Amino acid sequence: MDAPEFRTIIEPFRIHSVEPLRMTTPQQRRTAVQAAGYNLFRIDAQDVLIDLLTDSGTGAMSRDQWAALQHGDESYAGSPSYYLFRDAVRELFPFEHVIPTHQGRAAERILFGVLGGPGKVVPNNTHFDTTRANVEYTGAAAVDLVTSEAADPSSDYPFKGDTDVAALEALLRTDGERVPVVMVTITNNSGGGQPVSLANLRAVREVCDTYGKPLFLDACRFAENAWFIRENEAGQGGREVADIVRDIAALADGMTMSAKKDPMGNIGGWLAMNDDELARQCRDLLILTEGFPTYGGLAGRDLEALAQGLREVVEHDYLRYRIRSTAYLGESLREAGVPVVSPIGGHAVYLDAKALLPHVPPLQYPGQSLAVALYEAGGVRSCEIGTVMFGRHPDGSEQPAARELVRLAIPRRTYTQSHIDYVIETCLHVAANAESLGGYRIVDEPPNLRHFTASFAPLD
Ligand code: F0G
Repeated sequence: MDAPEFRTIIEPFRIHSVEPLRMTTPQQRRTAVQAAGYNLFRIDAQDVLIDLLTDSGTGAMSRDQWAALQHGDESYAGSPSYYLFRDAVRELFPFEHVIPTHQGRAAERILFGVLGGPGKVVPNNTHFDTTRANVEYTGAAAVDLVTSEAADPSSDYPFKGDTDVAALEALLRTDGERVPVVMVTITNNSGGGQPVSLANLRAVREVCDTYGKPLFLDACRFAENAWFIRENEAGQGGREVADIVRDIAALADGMTMSAKKDPMGNIGGWLAMNDDELARQCRDLLILTEGFPTYGGLAGRDLEALAQGLREVVEHDYLRYRIRSTAYLGESLREAGVPVVSPIGGHAVYLDAKALLPHVPPLQYPGQSLAVALYEAGGVRSCEIGTVMFGRHPDGSEQPAARELVRLAIPRRTYTQSHIDYVIETCLHVAANAESLGGYRIVDEPPNLRHFTASFAPLD
């Protein structure tokens, strides 16, 4: 018999401990979402059936990660768990200084606390919401310079996270003194979970060299990005993902990191860099708000679990399953006629609410309307990435965001294919009734990051 080639890509693990899900009725969910001011961040998790709000900190740890927790050394200073963590980070990202933080936004706050400030401009392919907020909080401006391919939701260009290098060059040429650092987010979360090519990163590096600017990665989903490079970039097929990650790291001067994504942690992050003086200033700030530089707000056991997670996330069997299972959700929806961002991203599928709800204008928040409908119909929690998240500007004005997306983020190693089949059914039901969905207005909102806490009310 010939060696068979099976088409089904299975989960490269079996389940070791289970968590119950609580079933709810549509009536219970309507009551819950109304009580939460139609804001899905304010719903109790136990009222959610399938939680696709985020892939951040929601993944399942492996047996070996749970075992690693037992090795945690909780010494305040110089814990061996720190050195194990630092070496695991350096194995992939060989930066001189590795500074743990409790999560990614703490690394951002510290970095921009040192480099930001009034009058400064920070370019990025697309800032994530907390990154933008941390830049703007210092008085600096955050500018998004993503490739024009990204604006077309139906284009199948495989690296829609690429930076618009010409636009970056123009910014540095005309306004270079105001730019303290160039950022690239891999994968580009707010732009649809889209990867950045190695060729584009090289081009960004060249421009940074020409103008003498440091390049920092926001690298939360580096392994997924490297897998896409291996799959889709000329000359990269067949390479080890870990080697591709090291190539990416070699192009940068430092990074901010949320370890709640690809490093498979439930909490954690880090800041890394080569510049000694910058590292000194960052550690000084770290001690103010996060803790001593060898734990940075984390327990020693968290550092151990992250070190193990970093080894697991670059395994090819894992990444093949991860990327394929996200594509399964996206392709099933697309084939059934639901508008989704193409190509399908690594950690999430993004529904195009503008296309699905053309009758709801941006300032009536079509993404919010779609996200609420998915929750009411099936108990599926998603996240609006549109005018609610990005529409309010530091000067107080409100403008429509470039896109109105609803993100279905897939926690790592957590849901099975039948959970995802249920999500597909829920989406198809809502899409079939999309004409009946109306807009929302905001009843109250905080000055920053309004999407987390704002209250909404349905319009008639
Ligand atoms: N950068 C990117 C690209 C992110 O996706 C996130 C978090 C952060 C930075 C901040 O990291 O949460 O550890 O403070 N993204 C999560 C999400 C919250 O749902 O996409 P954090």
